[in-house]
Amino acid sequence: MTMTIYEARDYQDMSKKAANIIAAQIIMKPDAVLGLATGSTPVGAYENLVEGYKKGDLDFSKVTSVNLDEYKGLSGDNDQSYRYFMNTNLFDHVNINKERTFVPNGLEEDSQKACSAYNEIIESVGGIDLQLLGIGGNGHIGFNEPDEVFHAGTHCVDLTESTIQANARFFASMDEVPKQAYTMGIQNIMGAKKILLVASGEGKAKALYDSIYGPITPKVPASVLQLHNDVVIVADEAALSLIKEKGEC
Ligand code: PGA
Repeated sequence: MTMTIYEARDYQDMSKKAANIIAAQIIMKPDAVLGLATGSTPVGAYENLVEGYKKGDLDFSKVTSVNLDEYKGLSGDNDQSYRYFMNTNLFDHVNINKERTFVPNGLEEDSQKACSAYNEIIESVGGIDLQLLGIGGNGHIGFNEPDEVFHAGTHCVDLTESTIQANARFFASMDEVPKQAYTMGIQNIMGAKKILLVASGEGKAKALYDSIYGPITPKVPASVLQLHNDVVIVADEAALSLIKEKGEC
C-alpha cells in the first residue's frame, strides 16, 4: 500500500492541491481517463481546473471521463442529476469532447442493463488512470454505502436514510429525492491506476480516520483503499483533525 496524505490549510488550499494533481495527470497523459466525482467537495478543484484551462495551461481535448455514479430516474437535464452537475461545474467550461464523458444512464430502468453497459464503457476506455473520490460521513465512496459485503462492479443501490437526508436539501420535497442510484463498484474504483481522495471539514474526520487506520471492512467502504497501491489523500485540517489528534500524521 502506498498512501500519501497531503494536508491542506483549508478548503481553498485543498481544492488547489487536488486540481494540481489532476492537472499533472492531464499534462503527463493528455489522453488520460479521469474518473470523476460529484458532491460539494470537488467543486473547488473543478473551478481550479477551469481556471487552468482558461489560462491556456490545460488541454482537455483528448481527455475521457467516467463518473462514479448517477441517480436512478433522473435525466441529464434535471438540475440535480450528476450529469448536469458535471456539465455545469466542469464540462461546459473546458474543451473536453462531451462524447467522451460518461455517466451511468439514470434513465435506464433496467438496472442490470444500465450497470453492465457502464462496466463495458469503463473497460472499453481502457480503465481509469486517475479516480477522484469524495468520502461520505459514513465512509461511502461513490454510492458504495456501508454494507455487509463489497460490491465489485457497477450496481444499483438503495441509498441509506442518512444519504437521502443529506441530499434532501437539494430537492423541493422529500418525494423527489431519489432513493436509488447506479454506482461504480469497488472493483471499478480499485482498478484505477491512481486514486485521489479529497475531504474537507470536521464531518469527515471520523470516516477518514477509520478508512485509513481502521480495519478493512465493507462497513467503512473507503477502508478498502488501504489495499490500493497508489492513493493520494488531500484533506484540510478539519478533516484530518482526528488523525492528528491520535498522532498519526
Ligand atoms: P460531499 O459528498 O462532497 O458533498 O461531502 C462526498 C461524498 O458523499 O462522496
